[in-house]
Amino acid sequence: MITFKNIEIRYGDFVAVPDLNFEVKEGEFFTLLGPSGCGKTTTLRSLAGFLKPSKGSIEVDGSDITKVPIDERQVGMVFQSYALFPTMSAYDNIAFGLKIEKKSKDYIEKRVLELAKMVDLTPEQLQKNVSNMSGGQQQRVAIARALAKKPKILVMDEPLSNLDAKLRKSLRKDIKNFQQTFGITTVYVTHDQEEALMLSDRIAVFNNGKIEQIGNPEQIYNESATEFVCKFIGEANHLLAKDLKILGLDPTSFQADNTFYIRPEKVSFSRTESNHNGIAGEIVSKEFYGMYGYYQIDVSGTRLVSFQRESKAEQHQIGETVYVSIEKENILSYLTEG
Ligand SMILES: Nc1ncnc2c1ncn2[C@@H]1O[C@H](COP(=O)(O)OP(=O)(O)O)[C@@H](O)[C@H]1O
Ligand SMILES: [Mg+2]
Repeated sequence: MITFKNIEIRYGDFVAVPDLNFEVKEGEFFTLLGPSGCGKTTTLRSLAGFLKPSKGSIEVDGSDITKVPIDERQVGMVFQSYALFPTMSAYDNIAFGLKIEKKSKDYIEKRVLELAKMVDLTPEQLQKNVSNMSGGQQQRVAIARALAKKPKILVMDEPLSNLDAKLRKSLRKDIKNFQQTFGITTVYVTHDQEEALMLSDRIAVFNNGKIEQIGNPEQIYNESATEFVCKFIGEANHLLAKDLKILGLDPTSFQADNTFYIRPEKVSFSRTESNHNGIAGEIVSKEFYGMYGYYQIDVSGTRLVSFQRESKAEQHQIGETVYVSIEKENILSYLTEG
């Protein structure tokens, strides 16, 4: 339902986004993911109407909204900094847009209570001044406010970045829940890979104003289309052709044959040689994380990191010989530039 066609966005002479093309489906949770400065906010602000593209068009449900003013776009926006009215109660913040629209008092009250329930704010909390609320609660107020006028699209720019780790996780779950319950088309911006993987139906990975890959979380993680995506989305062992040979794989049998990666949880090893293609190596370090162990293994000079579930039967010690096995299908291969 949202289509970006050949969008270019400039700040003066500087081209922040050269030529953006993507589609967001009705009801989808779509995330723009990438490092700081790659153009996520710029892209989001052009959708909300704060920035005018210098080229291209943005369509919503088939109609061109590129020149439609902000307040006619039916886009609700949530920012990293809550951007609430600090002297008002949570209730008045949520009701603000509805009052401007001159909705009846009864309607406003019903709607605010409905929204509060949706984002898990109690009627008592609604009466509080927002400056006396925690960051997590303020962000709930901001989300309710963004949804008050029943927008077609919800956009959120790093809404969890100012919260501590625990709050971030609980609000993240709630965002996912209400988005699934209400099915509102959502465009979400984050630089946090885990957040993107956990929340999204699909992710667009940005690098330098361009999209490197669009896909669902599994595709982005397991079938990273470029070396940039592979490295950005999670940890991976970097291997060269010589390392692959050591591991019993033929580097020329891959699509691209000069740089390779494998994710740590895809490197499996065992004390016994029963594994058909196990290659002997030595455990050189171990960190224990409760649910899993994080190992470094040396295989004839090639270093591999591996996550492995701990069990009573398989507990490994430094210096121990283990047999490493790697499935060819789990190797990601790329051509390095230059
Ligand atoms: N108001 C502005 N004036 C000039 N350059 C800007 C402005 N806002 C952002 N930029 C530049 O545009 C690029 C993209 O920025 P931004 O969209 O904020 O990235 P992100 O949100 O991914 O961190 C960056 O190089 C940034 O420095
Ligand atoms: Mg940003």
